[in-house]
Amino acid sequence: MALSERMDAWKALVDARLDQLLPGADRRPQELHAAMRYSCLAPGKRLRPILCMLCAEAAGGDPLHAALDAGAAIEMVHAFSLIHDDLPAIDDDDLRRGRPTCHKAFGEAIAILAGDALFALAFETLANAKAEPQRVVRCLRELSSAAGSDGLVGGEVVDVLAEGGKPTEELLHYIHTHKTGSLIAASCAIGAELGGAEPDLVRRLRSYGACLGLAFQIADDILNEVSTPEQLGKAVGSDRQHGKATYPALYGLEGARKAACDAADEAVWCLPPDLPNRPLLEEMAAFSICRTH
Ligand code: IPE
Ligand code: IPE
Ligand code: MG
Ligand code: MG
Repeated sequence: MALSERMDAWKALVDARLDQLLPGADRRPQELHAAMRYSCLAPGKRLRPILCMLCAEAAGGDPLHAALDAGAAIEMVHAFSLIHDDLPAIDDDDLRRGRPTCHKAFGEAIAILAGDALFALAFETLANAKAEPQRVVRCLRELSSAAGSDGLVGGEVVDVLAEGGKPTEELLHYIHTHKTGSLIAASCAIGAELGGAEPDLVRRLRSYGACLGLAFQIADDILNEVSTPEQLGKAVGSDRQHGKATYPALYGLEGARKAACDAADEAVWCLPPDLPNRPLLEEMAAFSICRTH
């Protein structure tokens, strides 16, 4: 099956599983559950769950049985990060996934708390993964360290603190590898772990995800400069307006494109040659930079 067909089919399965795992909007407190469902089920690419399942398959596991729930858990962490990233205190955005942002639709208090609750539900969901307990514990450690102060949240903090200044190359690399790279790296490592990988393959797929995640965030910076809100489903030109630390700001558009290609190439170099679905993982690396939204 071609990558695009696989992505569409798996996206539908992830959405159906998220629909089951998220509390019903009729359950108290209804406003909170409605907000969690609104943001988490909104149309996104589901890149992280798809990578998680592809890496389970790369390790020789059954991608859906091994990694669908873990992928849904990772998507909950991602949805939490988007809700909080859009808040007035952080990026102050009104549009996300083609819809009003969570705080625009539900108010700031509910949006903050919906993010918190999604974060908690993610770990409950991952803790229920059907795998050897030792593997599940390693996955929980992987997700918590990728999400926390040494990962996504750390990257978000440095992103906010860098606003309006001129970042060094090292600082920009820190921001992108942490705010985005760490969760994508963890998606790959968790998929590999649940697919039954040995430690060396987990490490290699984590590195693949880290490089792909950097490429993906550089592409996000470029799209913020060159795309349209209709195409992206979110604001464009906002990075420049807020003086964000981005690759185009530091290196220009051509320099940013080259950095994204280099990171995607590096992702492919991390892959062992004999993986059963290596061509799909290579295509994912290409997709991370060629995408239009
Ligand atoms: C948006 O992530 C935030 C970044 C890390 C660039 P995605 O581009 O994966 O967003 P969705 O899930 O498809 O909406
Ligand atoms: C992406 O941040 C990383 C997280 C949300 C954790 P950005 O602020 O660069 O992404 P968009 O452009 O809002 O999706
Ligand atoms: Mg941001
Ligand atoms: Mg943002």
